[in-house]
Amino acid sequence: MRTQVGIVGAGPAGLMLSHLLHLAGIDSIVIETRSRQYCEARVRAGLIEQWVINLLNATGVGARMRKEALFHDGIKLSFNDELHHIDFRKLVRRGVAIYGQQEIVKDLNARRLADGGPLLFEAEAVTIEDIEGTQPKIHFRHRGASQMIACDFVAGCDGFHGISRPSIGKVLTGFDREYPFGWLGILANAKPVDDELIYAYHERGFALFSVRSDHVVRYYLQCAPDEDAGKWSDDRIWSELGARLPEKARKRLKTGKITEKGVTAMRSFVCEPMQHGRLFLAGDSAHIVPPTGAKGMNLAFADVCVLSQALTQYYKSKRETLLKSYSATCLRRIWQGQRFSWWMTQMLHRFSSANDFDMRRQLAELDYVANSEAASKALAENYSGLPMDRFLTELRKAAPKRPAIRPWRIRHSLK
Ligand code: FAD
Ligand code: DHB
Repeated sequence: MRTQVGIVGAGPAGLMLSHLLHLAGIDSIVIETRSRQYCEARVRAGLIEQWVINLLNATGVGARMRKEALFHDGIKLSFNDELHHIDFRKLVRRGVAIYGQQEIVKDLNARRLADGGPLLFEAEAVTIEDIEGTQPKIHFRHRGASQMIACDFVAGCDGFHGISRPSIGKVLTGFDREYPFGWLGILANAKPVDDELIYAYHERGFALFSVRSDHVVRYYLQCAPDEDAGKWSDDRIWSELGARLPEKARKRLKTGKITEKGVTAMRSFVCEPMQHGRLFLAGDSAHIVPPTGAKGMNLAFADVCVLSQALTQYYKSKRETLLKSYSATCLRRIWQGQRFSWWMTQMLHRFSSANDFDMRRQLAELDYVANSEAASKALAENYSGLPMDRFLTELRKAAPKRPAIRPWRIRHSLK
């Protein structure tokens, strides 16, 4: 097999890259170790930034999101037994949407397959070779046969545990931090406790109250990084969630059948540079953030927007300036995402090493964020997503020539 861009991994980064390249007339093949069913059922991120809402719309994969997503104008911070509203719309004239990562993956899979793919699921023993030459290769086994794809470029979109980053490990520098806690996440059939997400600071530990629909909630509890989810009965989970809410909100907490439970450890990680030879890393394969700032998938989409633009420049004009600056361009945004995710995490979690001074400092910081316009604006600006205007403007300019791109309309821009 031969293609222009070989993409390893069919998560949000790999699928969106393949879709953007298709819109630009560039061929790609996506290779994924898991089955399509598994990828479409994997429950992870939920929150997308304003510019990602716009991206899905602008590239013709936003139809179901427009109908099914929940559009929010802000979040609530909970501390000292009270809820405090941070109004993004008023502060920065942007919003966010709750639309499950697996729904985006379903929409992108359907679109890529309708456009001819190819997406190769259930590949085994994937390796990348010859990235320092002009024709890198991806080797793997598929349906019992050995396969090889010769490419111009390889995009490593295979997540934190993939093979792309280790295959160039010797030339990379990693920067990381582990946190002494994890999140126990549940999905449950219950009515949401609030019409916005609640980020709750509590002496018993952090809790996040998110949602998937009018009757499905996604809640998280701070726990030990190696916590055994099996030790948490449904009753214990509901009672702990209630205990970490202010009294008024606790009364509105509805319980229901818990359909999924899992523990995620927390870490911050960045590798630099994000490219070696003709292998470009994108998304979680190059960086991980603690989920408190809801940045992981949003950063993955930002990387592949930059990469698709660089590859488009290369194929149109054989110029490599954007490919050469890929890593530096992405890292600037990634470090902003890292800084914000770390800041939200340290402000909202209980650290076992913290003393009374540290806790009073956290409460003072929350008080400042909730009550100073300057501070709440900084949170709103980062949470709803730093601008990606240049990329989107260029996509819009290109739209009339490409019928696959839908008109530029989002529900909230009409407000
Ligand atoms: P992945 O989603 O990890 O996809 C990588 C793909 O590569 C997978 O399909 C994997 O099976 C495949 N793969 C692995 N190895 C190989 C191989 N050797 N060969 C081929 N394929 C391979 N982000 C947000 O933006 N907003 C949120 O609200 C948010 N909440 C989160 C909550 C939790 C609890 C967690 C855990 C994460 C959250 N995130 C959030 C982060 C988000 O889920 C990730 O950042 C996102 O999945 C990254 O996408 P990706 O495509 O880079 O990697
Ligand atoms: C969700 C996850 C997050 O980490 C976050 O900060 C916001 C929402 C979610 O899964 O809904």
